[in-house]
Amino acid sequence: MTPPAPLGETTPVAAIPVPLVPDDEEPLAPLPTVEEAAEALELDVAPARVDLGRQLFHDTRLSNDMTVSCATCHDLRFGGADRSPRAVGIHGQVGPLNTPTVFNAALGIAQFWDGRAKDLAAQASGPPQAAGEMGSNFTEITARLRNDAMVVESFRRAFPNEVNGPADVTTERILEAIATFEVTLLTPGSRFDRWLGGESAVLTEPELRGYATFKQVGCVQCHYGPAVGGKTFQKLGQKKDFFSDRHLSHADHGRFNVTKDERDRHAFKVPSLRNVELTAPYLHDGSVPSLAEAVRVMGTYQLGVDLTSQQVDDLVAFLRTLTGTWADRPLAAPMR
Ligand code: HEC
Ligand code: HEC
Repeated sequence: MTPPAPLGETTPVAAIPVPLVPDDEEPLAPLPTVEEAAEALELDVAPARVDLGRQLFHDTRLSNDMTVSCATCHDLRFGGADRSPRAVGIHGQVGPLNTPTVFNAALGIAQFWDGRAKDLAAQASGPPQAAGEMGSNFTEITARLRNDAMVVESFRRAFPNEVNGPADVTTERILEAIATFEVTLLTPGSRFDRWLGGESAVLTEPELRGYATFKQVGCVQCHYGPAVGGKTFQKLGQKKDFFSDRHLSHADHGRFNVTKDERDRHAFKVPSLRNVELTAPYLHDGSVPSLAEAVRVMGTYQLGVDLTSQQVDDLVAFLRTLTGTWADRPLAAPMR
């Protein structure tokens, strides 16, 4: 894989040669295996630890009034997000940001839209303590979990030789188990991956034309690699001011809130585009309802081009080929 060209002026859109087979230089790449991803993050994906993490991810005891779990907002049946413009926490509180998917989040350079958490475990300590999300704290949470003999037994199996009794159910182990589960949320097996793997007949002509367009107009400058994004922070509004006529929220300042560097104002982590057809509405503020509209917004504000409706249709067709599988089931189908 070659690194994408630096951001610059985009070339005028001419007739696009549509490649029928991948070459050695494709800017997108297949996903790593769960084992590879776990090793890179120094997490141990022992089945008992993954199981514990899955339980905790779905456990409403992590919220103060026991109504909200991680899965409430990150529903694994709906692309790992919540289908709302902005997240809804306990007591119906609406937050400032759109919920990103947890699928393939393990591959991100950092966590959150502004990257303020360095990894999955650091991220997982946030929502339980955020007043507007789960509104609890780890004194309350560990006390509840230590009281449940079955949970303590799950911790013992997940951390053999470390956990002997309730007192060993600690914040750190809760976060590590959740992070370990999240590493297993990779979604291989998309049609695009099959094409990359050599099954050239698996993509239709509009889809291939969409991929060629994705490279030609410059989407790959930001959306590249195995996650088709997730690797850099980029300003929303590279070529045209996105926020000019809007009322700015604190969250709209993006990465600036973390670094206080003026160059990072309105910069956000480039989202992964895998499974993106399942996670409407779009952008950090959930302001864009459809995928076609999100693609148009990218053309206008990130690349300074008005994409034709043909280009938008092709790009959307291509993006839909990035929907993968999890636990051997297609993500698009409702999971029991
Ligand atoms: C009330 C809804 C809500 C709950 C509950 C919630 N999240 Fe989130 N999650 C969000 C929102 C909104 C963001 C983005 C916040 C930001 O960027 O500041 C987010 C971000 C994330 C991210 C970062 C993804 C990325 O690409 O940057 C991960 C991972 C994640 N949540 C996992 C969890 C886990 C684990 C839990 C449970 C401990 C949890 N979430 C609970 C709404 C929620
Ligand atoms: C300069 C970098 C850059 C370029 C070029 C770029 N994007 Fe983006 N893209 C981003 C960033 C940053 C976001 C998140 C912005 C936000 O949420 O406020 C994003 C968001 C998206 C989203 C919404 C994802 C979600 O989960 O909300 C889609 C879809 C998308 N881009 C597709 C494209 C397409 C298609 C192109 C080419 C036409 C493109 N992008 C070009 C940086 C870029």
